[in-house]
Amino acid sequence: MNTKVLLNEDEMPRTWYNLVADLSKPPLPPLGPDGKPIGPEQLSAVFPMNLIEQEMSTERWIDIPEEVLAILYRWRPTPLHRAYSLEKALGTPARIYYKNESVSPAGSHKPNTAVPQAYYNKMAGMKKLTTETGAGQWGSALSFACSQFGLECKVYMVRSSYFQKPYRKFLMQTWGGTCVPSPSNETQAGRAILATHPDSPGSLAIAISEAVEEAVGDRSGTTRYALGSVLNHVMLHQTIIGLETKKQLAKFGEKKVDQVIACVGGGSNFAGLAFPFLADKMAGAEIELIPVEPTSCPSLTKGRYAYDLGDVAGMTPYLPMYTLGHSFVPHAMHAGGLRYHGMSPLVSQAAREGLLNPKAVPQLECFQAAVTFAKTEGLVVAPETSHAIAQVIREAKRAKEEGKEKVIVFGLSGHGFLDLQGYADYFSGELTNYDYPAEEVAAAMAELPEFATIG
Ligand SMILES: Cc1ncc(COP(=O)(O)O)c(C=O)c1O
Repeated sequence: MNTKVLLNEDEMPRTWYNLVADLSKPPLPPLGPDGKPIGPEQLSAVFPMNLIEQEMSTERWIDIPEEVLAILYRWRPTPLHRAYSLEKALGTPARIYYKNESVSPAGSHKPNTAVPQAYYNKMAGMKKLTTETGAGQWGSALSFACSQFGLECKVYMVRSSYFQKPYRKFLMQTWGGTCVPSPSNETQAGRAILATHPDSPGSLAIAISEAVEEAVGDRSGTTRYALGSVLNHVMLHQTIIGLETKKQLAKFGEKKVDQVIACVGGGSNFAGLAFPFLADKMAGAEIELIPVEPTSCPSLTKGRYAYDLGDVAGMTPYLPMYTLGHSFVPHAMHAGGLRYHGMSPLVSQAAREGLLNPKAVPQLECFQAAVTFAKTEGLVVAPETSHAIAQVIREAKRAKEEGKEKVIVFGLSGHGFLDLQGYADYFSGELTNYDYPAEEVAAAMAELPEFATIG
């Protein structure tokens, strides 16, 4: 009766899985401000060409460079655990497994893409990367990755999180990164927001505008921008999670998985775990893939499928995605990494094609689930991850009611050691639930140009 399965380093996948190769329709292209598709050249001031090629690739399998593998070996393959203690506490006949991405240096799945992104930028001759961060996990991950390749790293951190989680900044600093609260006075986009909203709590969409502005404004041409989620190449890099999980489930003796569950902000830890299983589903396997989002930021469950900007200031192209509108102002809640208005175009397309079963859960149920998990399995998870656990508990209880012996796998995307303020606020009764109103989505959609509509 194994509690966990660890793979050897030589069992770690040597290729990433690209979902684009198996989708029934090719992804819609990104559009420029005139509504016309944009090509690789127009993205080259933002990303290096080797990553743009990956972003647009239709190859099913893409080799992971040796230099990237060498760094990933430090914590990968990550363990797959069987949650015996949680199962027992719930009295469920379900067998629950979790893939533990919290063992990475930054404490989450984010280094899985930070390392290859830093590597490809280094190969392209870049000296500096700029980025945004919500919860601080991505900014830490990129700072770590840049330290491995001798790159400078500048992080614009959503102002509310910056003050909620001061230790994230020190972590970035330890790896040599520079972290400033966003909106900042360092960019035009930041100054414009501060002029009208001096107390702005910031948002991921504002921080992205600032980071892109700094990258494209660098006259030396050796600064590029890195995004921690949403884009196709990020989903690709994260598939190492699901590919390992499949091997580990086989070692546990599981032949069939019923449900794969992960939280979604921009979609990357979900895509990483679920896309390799989605390949099986598209080939006929019966398997439910459940992305879980907060009721306060419900892009998949309440948003519209449309072309929208990735940021506030219009520095990014229009992407085809489920969105709440790029002017979305997030409600103060603790899962900072889930407070993004849009969803990865690939996750969105899969949802649009009816391949996913998205769910939304309220904040209090999530913290309650996180506490149950800590008391049973022992791990204190990130507030983002607690959304997956809340849904797992719902499914495990349903399995009990129905007397069904199903297999549930979920993504433990990160630990919560630097998110304890969220737990403190939960214990002191300060947290509330919030349902994002559908009228706000409709109002934001009305601001989009005509070409934004996807038929
Ligand atoms: C621990 C953790 N889980 C999940 C997420 C959500 O991002 P994504 O949907 O890209 O996995 C974040 C984002 O910051 C995070 O820090």
